[in-house]
Amino acid sequence: MTVQVSPNSLDNYWMPFTANRDFRQDPRLLVRAEGVSFWNHRGDRLLDACSGLFCVPLGHGRREITEAVATQLATLDFAPPFQYGTPGAFELARRVAALTPNGLDHVFFTNSGSESVETAMKIALAYHRANGEPQRQRFIGRERGYHGVNFGGISVGGMVKNREAFGSALPVVSHLRHTHLDANRMTPGQGAHGADLADDLQRFVDLHGATSIAACIVEPVAGSTGVLVPPKGYLERLRAICDRHGILLIFDEVITGFGRLGPAFGAQAFGVTPDIMTMAKALTNGAIPMGAAVFRNEIHDTIVNSAPAGTIELFHGYTYSAHPAACAAGNATLALYESEGTFAQGAALAPYFQEQLFALADLPVVRDIRGLGLLGGIDLAQGEGPGTRGYETLKRLFAAGLVTRVTADTLILAPAFVMARDDVDRLFETLRDVLGTI
Ligand SMILES: Cc1ncc(COP(=O)(O)O)c(C=O)c1O
Repeated sequence: MTVQVSPNSLDNYWMPFTANRDFRQDPRLLVRAEGVSFWNHRGDRLLDACSGLFCVPLGHGRREITEAVATQLATLDFAPPFQYGTPGAFELARRVAALTPNGLDHVFFTNSGSESVETAMKIALAYHRANGEPQRQRFIGRERGYHGVNFGGISVGGMVKNREAFGSALPVVSHLRHTHLDANRMTPGQGAHGADLADDLQRFVDLHGATSIAACIVEPVAGSTGVLVPPKGYLERLRAICDRHGILLIFDEVITGFGRLGPAFGAQAFGVTPDIMTMAKALTNGAIPMGAAVFRNEIHDTIVNSAPAGTIELFHGYTYSAHPAACAAGNATLALYESEGTFAQGAALAPYFQEQLFALADLPVVRDIRGLGLLGGIDLAQGEGPGTRGYETLKRLFAAGLVTRVTADTLILAPAFVMARDDVDRLFETLRDVLGTI
């Protein structure tokens, strides 16, 4: 299948997180996807090495999902989500709550990871207010964290390029140090060093006072910054400090959710239960935009029960919260995860993927490798300036038949859970060929 591309047709779309001017010189247009493959406008088949953008554990083009969406649109295309509900929304919330840890049973739907983060942060504030502690307004984020692109998310996030152009955002935020340590270089899974970095949270308590802090938000594995796996004991320590001081712990599971690390969520993978979780992406296998934030029952109950009977309890929500088509996609996706044992399939592939990933350590351009489950990060030696080698590598890999994600000079891999071993082999052969000549 080919489409006609002329330079004029590329002028109006302002692409996100993209070198727009450079893109137009040699566009990377994707026109079709199936399974673990994309096709570009020239008809070349490319291997999807990042599940789109961590979105499609089941692979692309699952008929069960597209048919569920088509049927839903033909039956009920839209319904107002304020003061009205649809059966699909309640069913999807039930399914999500069945996957989250016990006691996190209340699901608020959004349209993206960014909105899920804003929702989590706002509800953390609303909870403390309803609980008689309205002064708890400080958020604790982490250096190199990524929590989307809205103002709350960039405030607690810690990637400089996502912050520096946009002013001061939320004023009352502190950042934990990141957990990327030289001592853990080339370590598969969780490194032995760095649990004590969690004590930064205690230092903020000592500095600002425990009763000023609303919540601490981290990704269980920091994904977009290049796959920073938490050191052994780190998340447990954060949990303990939060417990000691009444601070809510938020896990941003937008990447780690829905089996990427093996179990349903990072919370279960690391055995640490947060108070709030955010998710998106694989919730609908990427087919329709959707996110969610899930809350510990006490958070929900405190807010809801503090409002007079018969009144709206929380003044928050989106026109497209629980959109019927998104719920249909989510229900079909979660049904497939269950009936096909998708998380177990991913967990079974993970050791092979990790073995191949760390086998790249001998390449001179590779400076560090990190990975867990079906997630891998490869740091490349910096080129002329930060990010130049990474971007050049992305282009060379595309030409060689791979669609990957690059952040600065780090390559990120996150295959679909249904990827065959042959495709994993092809992925790493192509990487070795291209990285070997850089
Ligand atoms: C951990 C995390 N939080 C939030 C987001 C933002 O999600 P979205 O791009 O859907 O707004 C992302 C996106 O990659 C993410 O990885």
